[in-house]
Amino acid sequence: MGVRRKGILLAGGSGIRLGPLTSVTCKQLLPVYDRPMVYYPLSTLMQAGIQDILLISSPEYLPQFQKLLGDGSQWGIALSYCEQASPDGIAQAFLLGEKFIGDTPVALALGDNIFYSSELSQLLQNASAVTGKATVFGYRVANPSAFGILEMDAAGTVTSIEEKPQNPKSHWAVPGLYFYDADVVQIAKNICPSPRGELEITDVNRAYLDQGRLTVAFLDASTAWFDSGTADALLETSMFVKAVEERIGQKISCPEEIALSMGYMDRTQFRAACEKVAKSSYGRSLLMLLEDA
Ligand code: TTP
Repeated sequence: MGVRRKGILLAGGSGIRLGPLTSVTCKQLLPVYDRPMVYYPLSTLMQAGIQDILLISSPEYLPQFQKLLGDGSQWGIALSYCEQASPDGIAQAFLLGEKFIGDTPVALALGDNIFYSSELSQLLQNASAVTGKATVFGYRVANPSAFGILEMDAAGTVTSIEEKPQNPKSHWAVPGLYFYDADVVQIAKNICPSPRGELEITDVNRAYLDQGRLTVAFLDASTAWFDSGTADALLETSMFVKAVEERIGQKISCPEEIALSMGYMDRTQFRAACEKVAKSSYGRSLLMLLEDA
């Protein structure tokens, strides 16, 4: 039996790079193809086997997430909510989530990070099963100055991590999905804001690295990872999802579909969840899953 891990979904931030789209709503409520962006990281956590999830967002937009996602019971999960008064950094999630985390391991998913791989469930469940350590992923990118970047020695061992380096030491970025033990709260309490005034997730990861407790799972090109925080990336992600779904004739990264395949709900509950959106192509495509089965 796997570890009873909780999940935090971080869905606040400023969304400045997506202005004016983010003038009156927040980034993670914007559409990626036919559903709100937040559905994707929520699906990722669910695919990792996580059913107890805390969503953190700004006081302004938290009520909209509550309206959209409710208490999660429609998908067989438990969702709770917490305000982040101002976007003071990704690692602040662990300070805000201290009580929620308690002494359980936790995964953090960034609300604008989207993953797809036919092997994703297994990959995530493997990461989730690791105890007493942190697991992050490594993914090769063309523009390393925009991410947290890994440095490796000749043997491929990770020796450092730098946040948005001007002179990147590699092309291997750390995507926005992280698995930690409960020590992460104490580690986050011990880091200081960076020069840009944020509690950096890279500093948390570096602390685990310094303690010899950081595992990096390198992902190859068979996994797609999108950080959909810019207008181009938003469009590319939508087009990717549409293309894959049309190719395989099945929805991907939908909470309803994941809840059914993970056994969080049965077929009757699945039908009820889909019927709420049955007049949309999203709902109709999901209902086709029942016919397939
Ligand atoms: P970023 O993309 O780094 O920041 P942002 O969303 O504020 O966007 P921009 O740079 O365009 O202003 O954040 C990554 C994810 O983490 C994103 O989903 C927002 C979320 N986030 C928070 O919820 N709170 C925070 O304090 C920060 C820094 C980010």
